[in-house]
Amino acid sequence: MAEKGLDVLLKERRVFEPSKELVENSNVKRWMDKHGIKDYDELLERAKDLDWFWGEVAKELEWHKPWKKVLEWKPPYAKWFVGGKINIAYNAVDRHMKTPTKDKVAYIWEGEPGDVRKLTYTELYEEVNKLVNALKSFGIKKGDRVGIYLPMIPELPIAMLACAKMGAIHSVVFSGFSAKALRERVNDAEAKLLITCDGSYRRGKVVPTKKNADEALEEAPTVKKVIVVKRTGEKVPMKEGRDLWWGEVTKDQPTTADSEPTDSEDILYILYTSGTTGKSKGVIHVHGGYAVGTYQTLKWVFDLKDDDVWWCAADIGWVTGHSYIVYAPLIAGVTSVMYEGAPAYPDPDRWWSIVEKYGVTVFYTSPTSIRAHMKLGEQWPQKHGLSSLRLLGTVGEPINPEAWIWYYKHIGNERCQIMDTWWQTESGTFCISPLPITPLKPGSATKPLPGFSADVFDEKGKPLTGAGGSLVQLTPWPAMLRGLYKDPKRYQETYWSKFPNYYLTGDMARKDEDGYFWVQGRADDVLNVAGHRIGNSEVESALVSHKKVAEAAVIGKPHEIKGESITAFVVLKAGAEPSEELRAELREHVGKEIGKIARPDEVLFVGDVPKTRSGKIMRRVIKAVVTGKLVGDISTLRNPEAVQEIGKAK
Ligand code: PRX
Repeated sequence: MAEKGLDVLLKERRVFEPSKELVENSNVKRWMDKHGIKDYDELLERAKDLDWFWGEVAKELEWHKPWKKVLEWKPPYAKWFVGGKINIAYNAVDRHMKTPTKDKVAYIWEGEPGDVRKLTYTELYEEVNKLVNALKSFGIKKGDRVGIYLPMIPELPIAMLACAKMGAIHSVVFSGFSAKALRERVNDAEAKLLITCDGSYRRGKVVPTKKNADEALEEAPTVKKVIVVKRTGEKVPMKEGRDLWWGEVTKDQPTTADSEPTDSEDILYILYTSGTTGKSKGVIHVHGGYAVGTYQTLKWVFDLKDDDVWWCAADIGWVTGHSYIVYAPLIAGVTSVMYEGAPAYPDPDRWWSIVEKYGVTVFYTSPTSIRAHMKLGEQWPQKHGLSSLRLLGTVGEPINPEAWIWYYKHIGNERCQIMDTWWQTESGTFCISPLPITPLKPGSATKPLPGFSADVFDEKGKPLTGAGGSLVQLTPWPAMLRGLYKDPKRYQETYWSKFPNYYLTGDMARKDEDGYFWVQGRADDVLNVAGHRIGNSEVESALVSHKKVAEAAVIGKPHEIKGESITAFVVLKAGAEPSEELRAELREHVGKEIGKIARPDEVLFVGDVPKTRSGKIMRRVIKAVVTGKLVGDISTLRNPEAVQEIGKAK
């Protein structure tokens, strides 16, 4: 992917300075002026007083009852805005009914076939209220869990907001997940009701969403009702007494509804994410701190103003969409673009046509998508006028400088700064990220934002500069997770046991001499495939659930576009023969167990996989063999000969 001038820029290690105009007009600068803060260093210093800083930010939202204390920190549990009452959906929607924002478009939605729906804040308000009333009529109450299994259609944010408004807890499951993955999540959350749809469009095909939901619900005893959105109009079976059409249940409902005066610390949602075991973790977020944190980080990092058109091209099924397609932009009262389908469908310029058509001003995507577009070629963005863009962003994995430069040149036309935002499902918001005023170094997420404090530790917890170590957060922040659903022990062990009182992110990073952070990737056994977090052991357990598989070891291999690709080493049961058919069958099997995103790119059959004496599969050794790195001492393995097998199979 040679790029003219690129080598020069990279070699020069050029720092990309923001323009004076961007700095002067930025929201962060305005905030500093308002608070009499003379420069960024002073802001960072003052923001170390977390009570003062976050208390000031929180005043920008509407509280049903003011808080008594900004922060109560009893590691590993933080409470923010203690004693306060706030409802995030009220702040996202109802609050705007008192201002001209009520007539503004909240979402410009484009379906994959090209159909368009625009929803103003008032229309959104009415739709949310109708659903609140419908949910109440089914006996859903504050604290009940509601599963949501919907693709990128407007009913997805509506459903989330309706739950939030009434104090019910939503658990959104990415619509690309399999029936089995949905079932596990719905059962763990003990959801009373599921909201889904007949189907949706992806690359011109109909995805059988309802069929998957039905399969999931075959063994989900807590789910008593299913609300089904009509998206494709395909004929789907409706189970008598359980399934109801969204259109029917909402049509005669009143368009007003009271919002529940939820406590700051009441649970807003559960979102499952992959960890190092086969069981996913139910990350918990709450109303108050999450509302404050998402709103403020979006406003500052992406600098959104009243006339901006914001497009976060993620899926709401992941945290990026929860925070920055649903809650933050609505609280900030901006217009967002939402797109249903595949990025390069029907032509590679689909995204760029959307940017041009709706005059998108701030655009946010992932490095993997940028690399995919880079491969398709710059002739596609060049077909469109992208001059409306003024700021760009990325998330999901470290961005390689080549992709950064391509994005900067061909999408931003060398005018737009790129906000490389580092964060996680657990963090709820950006933590390490540039602001529009920050000089950029391609490939670095720059520094912790004001009100955040991060560092890189060696194994003993000593801060490191210039060398790789564990990325930690030193202080609590408002949108941080409040725990793992029904699993306090795992919460404590995963995040707080290695360095007591400091939050372990699970990432490796290096801090340079200017204090810039360079995130290197996961430290634990979690893969990052096309920006999606997938546990090695999740894929392994999916493989061993196949009747012919005895054992499996899964590793990630560097991949040009996806960042990492999945390679599985499979030991077959006695009597089973390796074959091309079986290889394909195993890939499909993983797709069915977890979802298409987790299908291994490579399935290699071996007689054995390297293990420790206690039987733990040595993924690190396997990875070293596969990637041609130094394998190190293998004398402690139970079966060192298995290492050679891996070498032959790769
Ligand atoms: O490894 C880091 C990587 O993505 C992980 C979080 O994944 P998830 O919880 O699925 O959330 C993704 C969207 C927020 C992190 O532990 N990651 C995320 N953003 C970056 C990143 N790695 C490097 N640079 C980033 N900007």
